[in-house]
Amino acid sequence: MSAIDYAEKIPNNVNLVGDRTLQRALEHWQPQFLQWWHEMGPNDFEGADVYLRTAISVDAQGWAHYGKVRMPDYRWGIFLADPVAERKIGFGDAMGRPAWQQIPGEYRSTLRRLIVTQGDTEPASVEQQRLLGHTCPSLYDLRNLFQINVEEGRHLWAMVYLLHAYFGRDGREEAEELLARHSGDADKPRILTTFNEPISDWLSLYCFTYFTDRDGKYQLKSLAESAFDPLARTCRFMLTEEAHHMFVGETGLSRVVKRSLEVMKEMGSDDPDRIRAAGAVDLPLLQKYLNFWCSSSLDLFGSEISSNSAANFANGLKGRPDEDQYEDHVLREKTLNLVTPQGASDVPMLNALNEVMRESYLKDCEIGVKRWNRSIERAGSQFRLSLPSLRFRRSIGAWAGQPVDPQGNLMQRELYEKSLASWIPSESDKAFVHSLMQKVIEPGRMAGWIAPPERGINNLPLEYEYVKLH
Ligand SMILES: [Fe+2]
Ligand SMILES: [Fe+2]
Repeated sequence: MSAIDYAEKIPNNVNLVGDRTLQRALEHWQPQFLQWWHEMGPNDFEGADVYLRTAISVDAQGWAHYGKVRMPDYRWGIFLADPVAERKIGFGDAMGRPAWQQIPGEYRSTLRRLIVTQGDTEPASVEQQRLLGHTCPSLYDLRNLFQINVEEGRHLWAMVYLLHAYFGRDGREEAEELLARHSGDADKPRILTTFNEPISDWLSLYCFTYFTDRDGKYQLKSLAESAFDPLARTCRFMLTEEAHHMFVGETGLSRVVKRSLEVMKEMGSDDPDRIRAAGAVDLPLLQKYLNFWCSSSLDLFGSEISSNSAANFANGLKGRPDEDQYEDHVLREKTLNLVTPQGASDVPMLNALNEVMRESYLKDCEIGVKRWNRSIERAGSQFRLSLPSLRFRRSIGAWAGQPVDPQGNLMQRELYEKSLASWIPSESDKAFVHSLMQKVIEPGRMAGWIAPPERGINNLPLEYEYVKLH
């Protein structure tokens, strides 16, 4: 089952040859995808040979093959994790019944919406990152960027397969729309705000892959619990690829911190102006980037109180990440104490699941911050990085538009407006970061604002030519 057929036009492990109609529909979509990649992807690097991994099986061991590939020749395909025999629904009112191999009619439009919303983020991020190659800090980083890009393209394939296979004509239309919306487009933007934010520098890329890809991990994990088995299996395999994207974010930010500490030591100073003059990112500046991308990503979980998420859970469409870790999988009896600007109140747990997910997401985000703070402490600096409160700079839910500082305290609006430039990157901060973004493409060399990684990709040395530019 897990063998992937690479002789096919569209590599897959879903026995596409066994369904000619579906195969033809997807082969019709394939050139449209390639055209989109050619127009909206990293198209200035189409001739480059990139050391990429490609999925060759869905086993936990040895699922990827590495080799030099031109990105337009990447074998984007459809890979689902192996089925679990006699899988049962693990949560909600239908808990214990068999998982669905087909979609019950009454959940069709809701599931389509969930899949389209997830699918939309995948090409969106490729569009957001399409020009970053011109300012890469090293060939190693350039390769990682392109690896993420091709895999987000594959995640789009994963969702488009579900749309084509299970949603008939509506699904085919949605698949075309996924290529028609564009990140930041005034008329046809991507569905979620964060995916319309420009990513024009590598510090933002590392924040995006740390915070926003981690939101992706949480969404995929909750969809991996779905009663709709093909969706669950699709998301389970996507998570395997997603881990690398967060690795790029976490190690990228670690390397920025490391380099800042080195420069602080060399200068014998932590004065931000002097650190910047020496061509590194001062820690208060990094803090602003964390504040911006973390708060922006927190909105992706939706409103604190949501009847949609309650219905999605009760109906078995979308669970909680790692549903197994909880004792109660029905949640009809539980409540959660929720604090809003109007005060604290107990709300039914089912309606508060977005908040439950957001809180566990923020805890996951803390892990890297703690690690960075340990290295800052070891270097003898008093500075500490932190994550903003769940209430800070929210544009969705109970705290939307509220004047709240990064610690979560309500404050006077006038003072809030004035202080915002000290909490998130100002125009001059962004201009400075952009000034650091100079392309470095000699094998093994790094830009001055970032430390080298601890090791290369797939046991290759750091000096390896990860991208051969032509
Ligand atoms: Fe993805
Ligand atoms: Fe990702």
